[in-house]
Amino acid sequence: MITPLIMAGGVGSRFWPLSREDKPKQFLNLVDEDRSMIQATVDRISKLTIKDNVFIATNDKYVEQMQEHLPEVPLENITIEPMRKNTAACIGLASLYMEQKDPEAVMVVLPSDHLILDEERFLDTVESAVDIAEQGDNLVTLGIEPTHPETGYGYIDYRAKYDEINGNEVFEVNAFTEKPNKETAENFVEDGTYLWNSGMFVWKVSTIRKMFKEYMPKLHEGLEKMKEGIGTDEEKDILKEEFEKLDSISIDYGIMEKAKNIYVIPGSFGWDDIGSWPALERVEKRDKNGNVIKGRHIGIDTKNTIVHGNGKIVTTVGLEDIVIVDTEDAILVCDKKRAQEVKEIRNLLSDKG
Ligand code: GDD
Ligand code: MG
Repeated sequence: MITPLIMAGGVGSRFWPLSREDKPKQFLNLVDEDRSMIQATVDRISKLTIKDNVFIATNDKYVEQMQEHLPEVPLENITIEPMRKNTAACIGLASLYMEQKDPEAVMVVLPSDHLILDEERFLDTVESAVDIAEQGDNLVTLGIEPTHPETGYGYIDYRAKYDEINGNEVFEVNAFTEKPNKETAENFVEDGTYLWNSGMFVWKVSTIRKMFKEYMPKLHEGLEKMKEGIGTDEEKDILKEEFEKLDSISIDYGIMEKAKNIYVIPGSFGWDDIGSWPALERVEKRDKNGNVIKGRHIGIDTKNTIVHGNGKIVTTVGLEDIVIVDTEDAILVCDKKRAQEVKEIRNLLSDKG
């Protein structure tokens, strides 16, 4: 049984001031006008399974919003982390609820905030990954051909061909390197035998539980205690007690960099992780001056600028490579080359908004 797990507990702080602690990126209509990133993600993967099988992992704060965005997903499929402890803990907790339903279920782990242009090809690639995952204790990732030495991604060193399913080539993975420094990323891209990690993973629930036991024993122990608490009156307290003790580690560092049984399927389905404001230039229409404009804007000599308005007319003179975002209570004006640093602004704000 294909059981998607959509990870939706992050903040997406590089989209401040549009993304906020109480309205993270997955709830924004960043790409589609009429649906949020999380709604698009669920719609897409629901074509491979029934909505009753879709799990959403989030934390306490977002449960209500999640139900508003996804009324068709049963409440018992929303796994609630008592606090943010990154993606290994998120996947770990969800695996406990999934294994109760079906321990041999194949988990399709998806981020909640990516753009995929070619849905058909994407679903076809996922189906091939499910095939490989079902064959044994295999960890399968979907890889993306890198276009530049991005340091915010994981890199997959792949060499030997392992299989081919429905025209999708499957490769053995030699090594997985999460978020390398600039120099290493440059070497990887030059080398030509590396793919970006898309952050989408496919494995059996029973397989990932074994991996936690082997590579993240502390998390495994915590999960075993949480498992005992599930269904009891103390469930919430036990989860909180155990979560508090966990280290905050992503699945990429915790498992993918260590495990040996990893396979990758290079995907070509038009992927973008919409990581920060300049991503909109890749996915939205630019005007004749290279600007991406949402809302009302009048510009003189304004080039390659991103304007995200909120009702007011935004006027600019003599600007190039700038991001301007207006919201009800905050305005961002930022050098496009430094858009990654927007996430630091949150730390400077006293209310962390
Ligand atoms: N439930 C839950 N709990 N979800 C979380 C948590 C958490 O504690 N932390 C992050 N998420 C969700 C985010 O909302 C997002 O959908 C997904 O998990 C991935 O987290 P990011 O924080 O966006 O990870 P990243 O972008 O730095 O890196 C990952 O994605 C890259 C591709 O976009 C890694 O997998 C990289 O290797 C990969 O290249
Ligand atoms: Mg991300």
